[in-house]
Amino acid sequence: MPLLDDLSMPATEGAPDDLGRRRFLALLGSGALGVAALGTGITGLRFLEPQVLFEEETRFGLGRPEEFPPGTVLTLPKHKVYVVSTKEGFFALSSVCTHLGCMTRYDKEHAQIACPCHGSRFNLEGKVTAGPAPHPLPRVEIVLDRGLLVVDTAHRVAPDALLKVA
Ligand code: FES
Repeated sequence: MPLLDDLSMPATEGAPDDLGRRRFLALLGSGALGVAALGTGITGLRFLEPQVLFEEETRFGLGRPEEFPPGTVLTLPKHKVYVVSTKEGFFALSSVCTHLGCMTRYDKEHAQIACPCHGSRFNLEGKVTAGPAPHPLPRVEIVLDRGLLVVDTAHRVAPDALLKVA
């Protein structure tokens, strides 16, 4: 039966190639599983990490009132606030422009607060003197706590609020 002999393949001829392919596929599968396990592990670790947004404290102390004589304008960009000391008392103004929310800058030379974005100007009481800003800069809470000036930017107060210090 020469025909059957031709069709049958000797066992020794196909075995090394077949073994190589199986080994290659096994390695490929192991590699894919390894990558998937690594990705899952990294994702799991990131899930355990607290996703906290750190923001500045809204309530913070400044110091004793006598440290800020009348005429002092404290600029606190980190807290987005100005603290103004006058003969009558203290008040704190938000430094965020009421037009589109840019950070304003204190212009000491012209005794005003200026917004670099669209040119709004505010006087030191926060009232709009020029530009597109629709509202004055809002005042935020400033109190005397155990002899220290304490500002809380989370609490808005009346536009004429003033902390009188005897
Ligand atoms: S954001 Fe200040 S003038 Fe536009």
